[in-house]
Amino acid sequence: MRYGVGMTTMPLIILPDPLLRTVSKPVERIDDDLKKFADDMLETMYEAPGIGLAAIQVGVPRRMLVLDVANRDEGEKQPMVVINPTVLHTSDERSVYEEGCLSIPEFYAEVERPANVRVRYTDLAGKEQEIEADGLLATCLQHEIDHLDGALFIDYLSRLKRDRVIKKFTKAAKHKL
Ligand code: NI
Repeated sequence: MRYGVGMTTMPLIILPDPLLRTVSKPVERIDDDLKKFADDMLETMYEAPGIGLAAIQVGVPRRMLVLDVANRDEGEKQPMVVINPTVLHTSDERSVYEEGCLSIPEFYAEVERPANVRVRYTDLAGKEQEIEADGLLATCLQHEIDHLDGALFIDYLSRLKRDRVIKKFTKAAKHKL
């Protein structure tokens, strides 16, 4: 694993980096290195700023994500570290949110997903947790869990729209070389 040793923020992997299409492997051990990595992920997410970040977005193909959907204007951070999540249930009811992604900067689009999800995961203390989520948290969880399977929110758009975004970012990446 490429942990960001000694750093607080880590560079983000940007579209069209093929790493984003990696299927991440389960986290096997929760130790001090993983805790430090979780802190660095949260720092990277807050700094960006974003409300969710999957490990693969900083180049680490492990099934782990961090998120915080709390309204910053109202103070208190509410960081969540989600390890090896499993979606147990999704509702038939759907909802639409305008999504963005730290790996696809400054591009936003409406995506329809199940409005409610039940997710089982392991927390940073190694304890199994189950969460029933709705609203923005439900969307954010699904978006981040998608990353663990190499899926991106642009996959839900029409082929035309998706190709346009990929083309734009491919062009931009070439300019940087
Ligand atoms: Ni994302």
